[in-house]
Amino acid sequence: MKFNIMHPLNHLIVKKNLFSTITLEYGTPLYIYSAELIRENLDRLELALKMNFQKYHICYAVKANSNPHLIKLMKNHIPDLGADCSSPGEIHAAKLASIQPNKCIYTGNYESYEDLEFAFKAGAHINLDDISSFHRLRSIGLPEEISFRLNPGFGIGAFSQIVTGGENSKFGVPHYDIVNAYRLAKEMGIKKFGIQCMTGSGVLDRNYYPYLISEILKTIQQLTAELDIHMDYISLGGGYGIPYKDDEIGLDFNQVFRDVAKIFNSYFEERNKKKPALWVEPGKSVVGNAGILLTRVTGIKESYKTFIGGDGGMETLMRPALYGAYHRMYKVGEAETSNEITADFTGPICENTDRLAVDRDFPQVIEGDLIAIMDVGAYGFSMSHNFNTRPRAAEVLLDGEKTQLIRRRETIDDIFRNCHV
Ligand SMILES: Cc1ncc(COP(=O)(O)O)c(C=O)c1O
Repeated sequence: MKFNIMHPLNHLIVKKNLFSTITLEYGTPLYIYSAELIRENLDRLELALKMNFQKYHICYAVKANSNPHLIKLMKNHIPDLGADCSSPGEIHAAKLASIQPNKCIYTGNYESYEDLEFAFKAGAHINLDDISSFHRLRSIGLPEEISFRLNPGFGIGAFSQIVTGGENSKFGVPHYDIVNAYRLAKEMGIKKFGIQCMTGSGVLDRNYYPYLISEILKTIQQLTAELDIHMDYISLGGGYGIPYKDDEIGLDFNQVFRDVAKIFNSYFEERNKKKPALWVEPGKSVVGNAGILLTRVTGIKESYKTFIGGDGGMETLMRPALYGAYHRMYKVGEAETSNEITADFTGPICENTDRLAVDRDFPQVIEGDLIAIMDVGAYGFSMSHNFNTRPRAAEVLLDGEKTQLIRRRETIDDIFRNCHV
């Protein structure tokens, strides 16, 4: 059955004047975020958790979008918000947004001594990727509490590149070693424990989450039996998918967390054990659909195929070149796409992988038209880079009628600031 669900920011696309005014002031390529949609996404998630769990903790995954203004907006909305951080820079971004490190989970991989020391000294909850990570941490100091990232031997994700569990995944402690990891930690004097398991991103299958929690609980059962340890928290990680296409259906968080809670609660109730807190680390599901990238058509080439070139390409939005990810695109002013042409959308980058869309049906466009690329709030700006020595885009927050620059456009001087010539 085919569904056709409108994008929640569809109503903005027709506002040609709004986008013309904003781009006149801030230029293109430009990331625009809807404050209202971020708050709404958080509300949906929090309500579902509140209804189903006695104790829960939301750690926003900073990697999805580390703009501190946006994180602050989230923190203002959910005062108890924590952060999932995977680098010292992400802990810093959380701090800039007034999220204290003791509310954060730090999950690195192949963590350097320096990174571990930073997270340890900051006081973040440390979630280790491997037993070897524990040995490195030990040489720095040991916290009272530790968690390990479990790789249960399977994973799922929107693309093979974003599956983070399974035998081909570089992440986490394999299930056959997890008891050894906790045993070592216990022997070394760790008093409190958590466990984390994040097996992939962009997961729209609601049945996966109850399956995942059941598998985590099997590991916990083994840990309890062999080591008699209690978990203070279980983090299901992030990975909650969002629709990138009109015929994809978003997750109903109420349904997802009701199903997870049923399994989670009965496990601990049946054993008369204290329930751990459920932690989640959502990134994409908080900011993904709240971001629009505006690019301006700079050139149209009729070659062996039609190319529409804009002023932002893979350096501004990496996901299509990196994963072949699909993003809905509209001609600003036309929220309903009429299929007048079929074209590849590209940018100014000297790589043939520089594509934002391939063989896309689209309305007729001319040079100077604005194109809105949807669902770029997560892994959009945060994955952007300076290839071809192009400064990174500006970011603007739209809150009701109010627009605010939350990151100025990078300059060429910014790029060379650290160079000695
Ligand atoms: C450890 C961890 N937590 C959370 C996330 C956030 O995932 P998502 O943006 O899919 O919710 C990721 C993403 O890679 C991750 O690696």
